[in-house]
Amino acid sequence: MPVTAYDLTGRTAFVTGAASGIGRACAVLLAEAGATVHCADLDTHGLDGTAALIKDAGGTARTHPLDVTDRARLGEAVATCARLDVMAAVAGIMHSSPVLETRDEDLDRVLEVNFKGVLYACQAAARSMLASKTPGSIITMASGAVDTGGAGLLCYGAAKAAVVQLTKTLATEMGPHGIRVNAVAPGWIRTPMTERHDVAAQARTEAFMSRMSPLGRVGDPEDIAHAVLHLASDASAFTTGQILRPNGGVAMPW
Ligand SMILES: NC(=O)c1ccc[n+]([C@@H]2O[C@H](COP(=O)([O-])OP(=O)(O)OC[C@H]3O[C@@H](n4cnc5c(N)ncnc54)[C@H](O)[C@@H]3O)[C@@H](O)[C@H]2O)c1
Repeated sequence: MPVTAYDLTGRTAFVTGAASGIGRACAVLLAEAGATVHCADLDTHGLDGTAALIKDAGGTARTHPLDVTDRARLGEAVATCARLDVMAAVAGIMHSSPVLETRDEDLDRVLEVNFKGVLYACQAAARSMLASKTPGSIITMASGAVDTGGAGLLCYGAAKAAVVQLTKTLATEMGPHGIRVNAVAPGWIRTPMTERHDVAAQARTEAFMSRMSPLGRVGDPEDIAHAVLHLASDASAFTTGQILRPNGGVAMPW
């Protein structure tokens, strides 16, 4: 595969959750590969930080402060891209509660952001790609939790399982139009999401996850960004409906 297959010069990408962690790393790497990157997130300050990183790297960024659960606003933002080649729907939240203590409002909120937010991004992207006859690439963010389950992960895992179902369904429906749809299911990645634990608990979890990985470490956001770049680019032209698992080889950690 020629290295030029990863070249996104002249293409436009839209990244949700671009203000932090994995989404920020994706936005920066896609820009470094040559794409103009539209960055969307709730966090305006974080978006400015991502745009500055892209500018420093010689790239081009546009920012869209928005909530991915606002379907209309997200659609308007996607519509500002004259032609959309890549959607990376990364925005998400963590929630942990035992099944017996899980409240309806917890489940509703996690499904709202982690599933419906991804669905709205996928719908807006697919509509744009269909209208412009662009053979684009849509990438969703699932999680290793889909494979493993895990104590406390009912809401989060259910939403991510729904994202996998969305990915496979949309890939089937969009394939005839040349539009590819794939998911990335990361293992444990050191980001502000996973750093919100107290320091001692975080160190214990990272040590445990590192021991479970044949590679002996947890992931960095850039590990996931490279998986996203692969799926965004022509290097994966024959790949659709797949779940890519950059997880350090962790099979069943719980
Ligand atoms: N970090 C991990 O170990 C890990 C593992 C598997 C999957 N993931 C997934 O990767 C994605 C990114 O996670 P991260 O670790 O970078 O987390 P993060 O908290 O660093 O980043 C998430 C971003 O999403 C944004 N966001 C949250 N709700 C939003 C909303 N309603 N509208 C717009 N933006 C919103 C936040 O503002 C934040 O910038 C998530 O979908 C997460 O579930 C993370």
